[in-house]
Amino acid sequence: TDDLARRARRILLANWRRGFTVPAQGLYPHQWSWDSAFIALGLRHLSAVRAQRELESLFGAQWADGRVPQIVFNPAVPADAYFPGPDFWGPGARHAETGLVTSGLVQPPVHALAAWEVHRADPVTSERRGFLRRLYPRLRRWHDYLLDRRDLGGSGLVCVIHPWESGLDNSPSWDEPLGRVLPVSAATFVRRDLGHTGAGERPTDLDYGRYVRLAADYRDAGFADTLGGAAFAVEDPLTNALLSAGETALAAMAGELGADPAPHHERAAALTSSLMDLLYDPGEGLFFARDAHTKSLLRKRTVGGLVPLIVPGLPVVEELLKTARGEHFRLGELSPIPSYDLTAPDFEPARYWRGPSWFNTGWLIWHGLRGQRHAQLAGRLRDGMLDAIRLAGFREYVDPLSGTGHGSDDFSWTAAVAIDLLE
Ligand code: DGY
Repeated sequence: TDDLARRARRILLANWRRGFTVPAQGLYPHQWSWDSAFIALGLRHLSAVRAQRELESLFGAQWADGRVPQIVFNPAVPADAYFPGPDFWGPGARHAETGLVTSGLVQPPVHALAAWEVHRADPVTSERRGFLRRLYPRLRRWHDYLLDRRDLGGSGLVCVIHPWESGLDNSPSWDEPLGRVLPVSAATFVRRDLGHTGAGERPTDLDYGRYVRLAADYRDAGFADTLGGAAFAVEDPLTNALLSAGETALAAMAGELGADPAPHHERAAALTSSLMDLLYDPGEGLFFARDAHTKSLLRKRTVGGLVPLIVPGLPVVEELLKTARGEHFRLGELSPIPSYDLTAPDFEPARYWRGPSWFNTGWLIWHGLRGQRHAQLAGRLRDGMLDAIRLAGFREYVDPLSGTGHGSDDFSWTAAVAIDLLE
């Protein structure tokens, strides 16, 4: 145990870059939005200041409209180290004050949850540095952006407009809506990811052609958020559940800062009831994403459909747990939790978000189980995740059946989650 914690700490130290942590050397040489939130959860056990700076540097790149970018490009690495890099996003994505270039897309809103945990780990240092006082208004503007500008379907739920925004990039849930997107020819760009990881562990060229088309169209439209302009627009349970849980975290911060928590509780309740009304399928005992164009559910069983377990007061916890423990996910029996239905004919145990187990979604389910007072199952999941890391190392993702490691090695959020689970 001691040794595992030591190895995890070494990874976070090695991946630190003056103010932020890279997800992994080589494959991901910049700062990523939701990675930073998970990384801060681990860093808070090493250094409260470092954990605070991780989130502060990300929010330093927040756009005037409130969006928190998917990627903040590190000017110290060559522009072509990652694709699509700063040259792709161009002048429209250059921060007016800092000059930093970012991606114009966003990622799942785990930040309020992470910021609250970072504060609670060392309230004295947080108070001394004015961490919450400075971050709370920025977190509020981030959530305002999502709620005001991204409710493209007018349903009360937030849309993601690119698979990269969902965090679950090549999830089978996106196959149908993505199938309507005309791919850019693979000959027109160079995938840098394949220089670091086997093609069988990454999205396909056809997927990439569509990712590039969607990102280029959004950029060329000046990052305007309209349903008509978004060929891909889905209401996803992971993003909306995180936003609801994040509003509850903002309510706690407001209370601490002497602000009014009531509006945050109201937003959390409204999001939760929209999640229940629009994305929950009682027959399946699972949440599904919904296509904002067709208004139909995308009926693929993915780990994202279980993430609403993190929502305080969710009325269908037992139903979700029954599904999680069944044949599709085998929670508590296999090591961490697979990203996709183990029984599906298109389940692929090594291909990114089409099967492998990831440690950030494992952490979210674990955190949810603890909040919902399922301590025993939470303990089993925790032990399973730590065993998986002992077996495979700090890999980006693992085969849920064999435990074989895939993707990057020395992956920052895997290390951060391990540190948090060992505390
Ligand atoms: C990647 O490069 O695969 C990332 O998931 C994009 O955020």
